[in-house]
This record gives sequence, C-alpha cells and structure tokens, in this order.
Amino acid sequence: MTIERRSLQQTFENAFHREPEVLSEAPGRVNLIGEHTDYNEGFVLPIAIDRTVAVAAAPGAGRTVRAYSVDFDARDEWRIDAPRRTGRREWRDYVRAVAWALLDAGYELRGVDLAIAGDVPPGSGLSSSAALEIAVAGALCSVADISVQPERLALICQKAENQFVGVQSGVMDQLAAACSRAGHALLIDCRSLDRDFVALPGEIVIIVVDSKVPRRLGETPYNQRREECAAAAQELGVSSLREAAIGDIEGLREPLKRRARHVVSENQRVLEAVDALRSRNLARLGELMYASHASLRDGFGVSTPELDLLVELASRTTGVFGARLTGAGFGGCTVNLVERDAVAGFEAGVVERDRERTGSPATMLICKAVDGLRISPLG
Ligand code: GLA
Repeated sequence: MTIERRSLQQTFENAFHREPEVLSEAPGRVNLIGEHTDYNEGFVLPIAIDRTVAVAAAPGAGRTVRAYSVDFDARDEWRIDAPRRTGRREWRDYVRAVAWALLDAGYELRGVDLAIAGDVPPGSGLSSSAALEIAVAGALCSVADISVQPERLALICQKAENQFVGVQSGVMDQLAAACSRAGHALLIDCRSLDRDFVALPGEIVIIVVDSKVPRRLGETPYNQRREECAAAAQELGVSSLREAAIGDIEGLREPLKRRARHVVSENQRVLEAVDALRSRNLARLGELMYASHASLRDGFGVSTPELDLLVELASRTTGVFGARLTGAGFGGCTVNLVERDAVAGFEAGVVERDRERTGSPATMLICKAVDGLRISPLG
C-alpha cells in the first residue's frame, strides 16, 4: 500500500468525527504496449503500479453522500439518488459519476462518508481517474453490501467516465485498476474482454519517466483520433479496426490510412510482445516498444518532442531494452524496460541528460506491478 492507511483513517475521523469501516484501494497503471487499440477492440498489455487511490468509507446518515478529498482539501455533499454534474470535470464529478453508473446499472446504493487520497500523479497518463473511479466504486459497493465482479465494475466505471464525465476513454484503464495481479502484466482482448496474466521477469524493472507536460484527455485530440478510427473502419466495411488486416488499408485516404496502420500493426506488436515476455526475449520486447513509439509518433500523431527525446535518450543508454510513450500521448509519460542493475545509469543517461539538454523537469518512477482493486476492513 502506498497511501498510509493510518493517516487516511485519521483524516476520515477528523473530517466526519467518526470511524471508517472499510478501505478501498485501486492502482494507477502503465501500459507496456498496445496504445490506442482498446477502443478499436484490439489488444493491450497494461501493468497496475504501486501508485494508488485509497478511499476510507463508512455508511452515512440516510441518503446523504459526504466526500472529502485530501489532495484538494475540498468537500462535497449530495443525495445518493441524484448525482449531478458540476460541469467542471473535477474530482467531484468522478465520484458522482460512479454512483450514477452503479444506480443506472440497477444497484441500490446508500448514503456514505468517503475520505479520498491518492498518489497517482494526475494528468500524466497513469490513469489517476480510473484508479479514483474503481476505488470509489469499491467503497460504494462495500458500504451498500453489494458484490460486483471486477470486470463488471470496470465496465460500469468506463460508462461513468464516458457518459457522465464526458471523456470517451476505452476500457483498458478501468480493467487494469480492477483486475490486475501483482508481478504480472495484464493482456486484455478488448473485443471479448478475455484476459491473461503475463509474468514479468525478475531481472527487469519498469521505469516511468514523467515528461511533466500535462494533459487532460478531455482537452486533447483523443476523441478526434477515436472518430478517425471509426471512420476508417466504416470505410473498410468492418465493425472495428480489429477486423482489418494490414493489406486492407492501402486504399484508405489520409490521415485515416496512417491511423489504421498504427492500430493494425500495434495489435500485432502486443501479441508478439506477450510471446517475447513469455520466452524471456527482452531484446525483442524492446524492439517492439521502440516500433510502437515510432508508429504512435509518425502514424497516429500523438507524441510530443519531449517524449521523443526521452525515448531517444533511453535508446542510447546501456541496460535499456525498450522505451515508448505510454497512455494517450500528447504529453504524459514514457515507459522503459530496464535491466535491474542499470537503474543508476538510466537516471544519468535519460533523466539527467534530458535536464541538461532542455532544462526539462522530468522525473522518474520505478514501478512495482501490484494487484488491482483491494478492499479491506478498517478499525
Ligand atoms: C487513455 C484511455 C485508454 C486508452 C489510452 C490509449 O489512457 O483512457 O482507454 O485508449 O488512452 O491507449
């Protein structure tokens, strides 16, 4: 656990003058490979990381929801039956959105007190919003004595984000936050939602470098990319780009052709990456990561000069197998596959060199692969 249980418990007691009963924790995620494929019904390979949103909760008085955000030092209060948008797409909307989506799915909720704290850096592409949604969903369900399978919870939270908050994200982040297993990456087939755990070899570490170029999905061309992919599928006469083969896309007009080529080739790379991981062929996995980055940069058009430089520096550093931008792009982070004993060299070769060359404030984070949603009693 990354958020200190006792201090969140104390915060809850200060905020509501009573004791919490349950702790619901959900992790952020880094995507190893498989970018902009989830909403095209393709393959993704995320890893839940040891950065968490934690929610301490207890049943409330009547139908009232009281929420306190430690990070924003702000409160919210509303009736559980009538969650409404603030219109500002802020933390309050994500909490209300989850309640809305659970009610919409037919679950009976009750009033609740919630204290929320997180250490997933927001706006970096590490899915702080999915972690918040899943942790809140876990808390609301637990307090109302409802048991929901993690996969279903992920789909409900995706609907919350799509329809209530108004961000058209795919399903990868919520599934990673809900269903991951420690020490493993999570292969997801986003058409069938079939999943498989892929063990991460002990000789590597996953390092995330945050370019500190902030992004919020709602303000990037993310939705535009989704529309381009849908348009490409429609022109090809298929229900999603998952159904397209590389030979099919030659006749498409630009930019649809470039977008489709990325998605089709990226799906292939994810499957090859899983084979490479399983056979411990880390050099091959690294090549696939660099190829993914080039395709996101040149074909899908979602990289930035800062991310390109971080990947280039990584490619010239000893002990680095592969690097690429991770998440939606337009800023945010790179993910790096690094030999366990090469971490100091990585910091010097990538983060410090980047700072020397550009004055960049980039920071690095060594990630541990953790379990998805965890609910435990408090008190
Ligand atoms: C964001 C979305 C995900 C996925 C990625 C790109 O993180 O929330 O659903 O589409 O971008 O791979």
